[in-house]
Amino acid sequence: MIYQIYPRSFADSDGDGIGDLPGITARLEHLADLGVDAAWLSPFYVSPMADAGYDVADYRDIDPVFGTLADADALVAEAHRLGLRVIVDLVPNHTSDQHVWFKAALAATPGSPERARYIFREGKGEHGEEPPNHWRSVFGGPAWTRVTGPDGLPGQWYLHLFDVTQPDLDWTNPEVREEFHDVLRFWLHRGVDGFRVDVAHGLVKAEGLPDWDYDHGLLDSTEKLGRPPMWDQDGVHEIYRAWRKVLDEYDDRVLVAEAWVEPPERLAKYVRHDEMHQAFNFEYLTTRWVAADLREVITSSISATAAVGAPTTWVLSNHDVVRHTTRLALPLSGPKRPNGIKATDPQPDQVLGLRRGRAATAVMLALPGSAYVYQGEELGLPEHTTMPDDARQDPTFFRTGGTVAGRDGCRVPIPWERNAPAYGFSPSGRSWLPQPESFAGHAADQERGVPGSTLELYREMLRLRRELGLGLGELEWVDDLGGDDVVAFRRGEVLVVANLGGEPVPLPSGTRVLLTSGPLDEQDRVPTDTTVWLTPAS
Ligand code: GLC
Repeated sequence: MIYQIYPRSFADSDGDGIGDLPGITARLEHLADLGVDAAWLSPFYVSPMADAGYDVADYRDIDPVFGTLADADALVAEAHRLGLRVIVDLVPNHTSDQHVWFKAALAATPGSPERARYIFREGKGEHGEEPPNHWRSVFGGPAWTRVTGPDGLPGQWYLHLFDVTQPDLDWTNPEVREEFHDVLRFWLHRGVDGFRVDVAHGLVKAEGLPDWDYDHGLLDSTEKLGRPPMWDQDGVHEIYRAWRKVLDEYDDRVLVAEAWVEPPERLAKYVRHDEMHQAFNFEYLTTRWVAADLREVITSSISATAAVGAPTTWVLSNHDVVRHTTRLALPLSGPKRPNGIKATDPQPDQVLGLRRGRAATAVMLALPGSAYVYQGEELGLPEHTTMPDDARQDPTFFRTGGTVAGRDGCRVPIPWERNAPAYGFSPSGRSWLPQPESFAGHAADQERGVPGSTLELYREMLRLRRELGLGLGELEWVDDLGGDDVVAFRRGEVLVVANLGGEPVPLPSGTRVLLTSGPLDEQDRVPTDTTVWLTPAS
């Protein structure tokens, strides 16, 4: 199991209210104690932080807010001492507009080698006053911005699929490819165990940048509309084949794709034997709490990855989505991937969400393949759904004129101790995003050693997962256990039963409970929104 650390929000050692690398190093024992195998760290590179570090100005140094290269080395050394591997985030689709390359591009003329590292184009219309095509930014607004030329006159436009401060690189340019091979080697030399590759499906754009008039969300319905010209172009695979060769120069390192790609067969292409090792299964993440949907996505995901000989990579929460402890309580009529919740929105039932969240994780951690857990989900943290608008930082909020809440609600700093300043996140009590009061009851010191707490449930699931080898092997569906609203499958000796229906489900005879995501009822039945792991009684 791989644990995602969002450095800004994990632990702050110096009191500026933003988490940092020494803070992480000091808390790595928490991961070892939980039973994780590896930590993935969201970006810590030099950045103006227009997109919380996903706008990188220097790929070979640490932002001072997070620490120094020596701090990064110390973190990796301590992780390795504790038996944890370290995966870092690599952002190849775009740089920051403060990267030396982009500054040089702005200072140079159209057609220059400096501009050729990015996607600059002439505008349309008589005076080039219209953008080169209709593409929209994932964060809202147009995906093109016009620059002022060195002569002071309005000039070319550059493409940014994300914020205006995140210009897209041109991956048809060999210089860009060489640069990233070098960046990979820089970190591999420093001893990191792998890379999570940001927007891995976006690097190559369709020839001629044809218009696209549909939704530009990261997970577009490719089956209905065809493939959007900015996502999942076949040309990306050649890039990852070359990267894999670089990684194979070193012992045992991994590449993980962040690729919002459907259907599973397309996603599986990223994990062919000579490409990446894992690709997040976002179709699973966005599946609703409906038994038939869960069965379907599990089956199709396993068969698609099996066809290329790779493991499936399960995930329920990360720094871009509403935490699953809250998301699963939202009405089924809403969007599959809500983008934050505002104080003025209908408020989800957090008790229901936590119950479903725990049950959903107990399904995920019983599946064959690898699994990712996002910091704080082991504490049962909810999304912050009442954050004041003036505290928000996500560019999505600003680029949509405040109509879309964005991702701040899942990025709130972690509560470690109930009675410490900022719940133990920062010695000064500062916190770059406000923590809701409900975090007090979820502080790690309130849950550690407490039977039935979410922290102890995760520890137990991870211990059993390892002991019983649940990450490997086959899954066999069991159909005759309590009706259509029950998801039941066998993993070797272990029988997993998740009840998504309204009626309690009796335990099958001859079984013994290994683990349960919530209490059984008085008659020892599996209640609604509860998952149990069972083993033969004798
Ligand atoms: C990925 C990251 C997200 C970021 C975006 C642009 O989707 O996970 O946080 O904003 O890429 O880099």
